[in-house]
Formats: sequence, C-alpha cells, structure tokens
Amino acid sequence: MTGGVVLATRELPEPFDTLKPDFEVRVLGYAPSEKELAAEVPGVDALICLVDDPVTADVIQAADRLKIVASYSVGVNQIDRAAAAARSIWVTHTPNVLTDATADLTLGLLLALSRRIVEGDRLVRTGKFAGWAPDLLLGRDLKGKVLGIVGPGRIGRAVARRAKSFGISVIATGRSPRIEGDPDDPPRVSFDELLRRADVVSLHVPLTYETWRLFKAETFAKMKPGSFLINTSRGPVVDEVALVRALDEGPIAGAALDVYENEPAITPALLDDDRVVLMPHAGSATVETRREMARMVVEDVRRVLSGEKPLRPAPVEGGGRR
Ligand code: DGY
Repeated sequence: MTGGVVLATRELPEPFDTLKPDFEVRVLGYAPSEKELAAEVPGVDALICLVDDPVTADVIQAADRLKIVASYSVGVNQIDRAAAAARSIWVTHTPNVLTDATADLTLGLLLALSRRIVEGDRLVRTGKFAGWAPDLLLGRDLKGKVLGIVGPGRIGRAVARRAKSFGISVIATGRSPRIEGDPDDPPRVSFDELLRRADVVSLHVPLTYETWRLFKAETFAKMKPGSFLINTSRGPVVDEVALVRALDEGPIAGAALDVYENEPAITPALLDDDRVVLMPHAGSATVETRREMARMVVEDVRRVLSGEKPLRPAPVEGGGRR
C-alpha cells in the first residue's frame, strides 16, 4: 500500500478500483450535505467529488490532511477553490475528455427541439398517432438558421463544428479569443447582437459570479422572437422563473435543458411544458467518457499523493457560485 486515505463521495467506473490496493479508499455512496462532508474529511488525504458535492470553505477548513480535491467533472463551481488554494490543496478536474460527448448531446437537444422528437415519442406512446397528416408535429428546418454560442470554449467550438454540417451559420460571444485560421471557430459578436440574431442560443459557459443568472428577464427580452434556448452548461446560468415567463409570454418558442437552477429540483412549470425538452445532467454520460474521466481522476490523485504535481489543475479564478 502506497499509503494515504482517499475519500470518494460515490463509486466511479472501473479505473477507480485501481486505487484500492494502494490506498485506504472510503466511499460515501450518497450525496453528502456540506455538514456531512465536513464530518468525513478529517484524516483524509484526497477527496474525490462529483459536480454537486458542496466542497465549501467549511469543508476545506475541517480537512486537516487534505492534499487534493479531484472533481469527477470539468466544472468546478461546487468547490471553494480560493479556500483550497489558501491551504495549498490542489483542485483538479477532467477537461477535454467530455467535450465531444457534451457537444453530441447539445446537437441531440437541438434536433429534439427543432423536430419535436420528444413530443412525437409521447404522442405515439400515448396512442394518439392516428396516421400521417399534413400538419402533424411540424418542426423547423435547421438549414439557414443562426446558432449563437455563448461561451466558445472547447465545448462551444465542438458544437459549432457539428452545427455547420447542418447548414447552420454560427456566431459566438464570450471571453475565449477566436483561433485564427480555424474555420470552425465562429466569428465573435457582442452579447446583444447574438441575442438579436440567433434562432438558437446554446450556453457553454462555466458558472461564475458573472454568469450566474446571465439569462434573466432582461436577457430573454432581447432574444429573437421564436428562438430556442439550449443549456448544457450549469443550471444557475438561467433564471428558471424568467425562462417560464419567456416561454409563456414570448419571445422564445422552446428550450432544452440538461442542467437546472436548483438541481435536482426543477421548476414545476417546465415539467408541464411540451415545448421544453429535459435531460438529467447527462452531457458527459457515455461509457467511454465516464471511464476516461475516472482514469484522469485516479491519475491526479496518485500523482499528488506521491508528491508530484497533478496534470489537470482547475483554474483558481472564476468565482464559484453554486
Ligand atoms: C462536468 O463535467 O462539469 C459535467 O457537468 C458533468 O460531467
């Protein structure tokens, strides 16, 4: 045994088991509250957490031996990174590996919205399909439409690449500078221009103090009439009450959400709305991606517990609003 105590809030796919011969591995097996996590971390050298585990300043404070918090995710807004940095505790994450899976799901949601796939499934299952009809479940063409990417980072650009093959023009807004010479990197426009022009707005920003409720009543009011919103980033980027109003009173015609403001709770009006497609935070949920994420987490835990630097430290800046 190499030594050290590893606490994981949940079991992970297979590469996770390779830690077991070398470390004392404890698995909570449930979603801990902040208080529960704070009670578990004393004596722990490495904490492996999920997207919604509250690794707050109080949890960090309670940890007397912690050297690394390894998040089984790319987003790290659930971790108080400033508190960890102040105690020289590494925070790591799993970038790149889930880019394609998340971009694929985003395109799936785009198709589901524009061609009303989920509504169609419901209609058939509930025995309401009475045969072909000229006006049955009419959707919208994608060709010739404008997709606005908010946050053209790795995932945003991967979405743009895929969307172009449907004949969609893509524009983007955000901090990531355009990669000159990359024809798939969409042209940048201002936030307001994107809202005005886009037929579909897709969100790919991290959750920070700046992006918290970026989509609120005033934002929706600037969107193109009849447009769609897709969110596969973080739930609190969208004010769900304002979203419900924008669906009911305009200007938007539909939304597809993979993430929620108060996950796993969902604003009830969204559940009752056929114009809304809902997924259970599954952007990275493929066998291959989740396995590779587990491998990355294990690799960085091993490195840090043997005195090396991790390969994938998460950015310290960026706020971290849960
Ligand atoms: C992430 O990695 O941040 C996703 O939201 C979950 O895989």
